Amino acid sequence: MQIPTIFSLTINQSELDDAMRIGFCYVRLPSEALIQKIDVCMQTARNFFGGSPEEKAKWRLKETLLPGERYEGYVVRSQSKNTNTVEQIFFEPDSPFGPYVPHASSIQAIDDAFLNMISLPLLHTVFMKAGLSQDDYADAAGNPACSLVFQCCPLTGEEKNKIRLNAHKDFGLITVLYFEEDGLEVNYQNQWIPIPHKPGHLVINFGNALELMTNGCCHSALHRVTNATDNRVSMVYFVSPSPQRPVRNYINNKIIAETGQLFFKQQFADYYQVDH
Ligand SMILES: [Fe+2]
Repeated sequence: MQIPTIFSLTINQSELDDAMRIGFCYVRLPSEALIQKIDVCMQTARNFFGGSPEEKAKWRLKETLLPGERYEGYVVRSQSKNTNTVEQIFFEPDSPFGPYVPHASSIQAIDDAFLNMISLPLLHTVFMKAGLSQDDYADAAGNPACSLVFQCCPLTGEEKNKIRLNAHKDFGLITVLYFEEDGLEVNYQNQWIPIPHKPGHLVINFGNALELMTNGCCHSALHRVTNATDNRVSMVYFVSPSPQRPVRNYINNKIIAETGQLFFKQQFADYYQVDH
């Protein structure tokens, strides 16, 4: 089984079928300039995660957010007793946070490209392939919530075979991933299939919201990270349904959640524990 590669502007139908069935595909990065911006941001993440605990603690995510406060900051999560911790920095791309303030223009360029050149065209193509209408697409893709996460799954001792990120599915519409260290695997027909780094490419996967919206035409696949090399740093861009609008199954016209925000809360509940 081969992970399909999609070129964002010219989508081959058989590759699209494979991507919708497997839940994962590669997408070629659209320009050299964008690759350079990603490199700068990845290096900033490596420096940050390699920094002192005191420095990282300065940017810690607040435990309780007041209404209207942004979900941004540094957090360490444990996924289960026998799995490594994961360190993350969250922010909304229109307002880079902490160590990313000096890279605001790069972050905004990445946000624009990932949303408008990759995620929305792919979402539109998936909707058309699933036999849905332009109106359905406009409803599903209007005002999406986008967030950017830099994530580090640190190496513990020499245990390179340990699972770094537990098997899970993503919640939203589309997730765009960039990484240079191997370790990502997708579960396909009860087998774990590696998705190695492919130079000049992003990896895309489809989330639970998109699977439900298309009544299963588009698969949200179980995936995990294991067998990583050293500290594995990745950039993850989540495109999720609008927090204000209903999340709807467009094939049978049923409401799944009254708002995207409610959908997110339902999906997120008990998923991770935060280490304080
Ligand atoms: Fe994921």
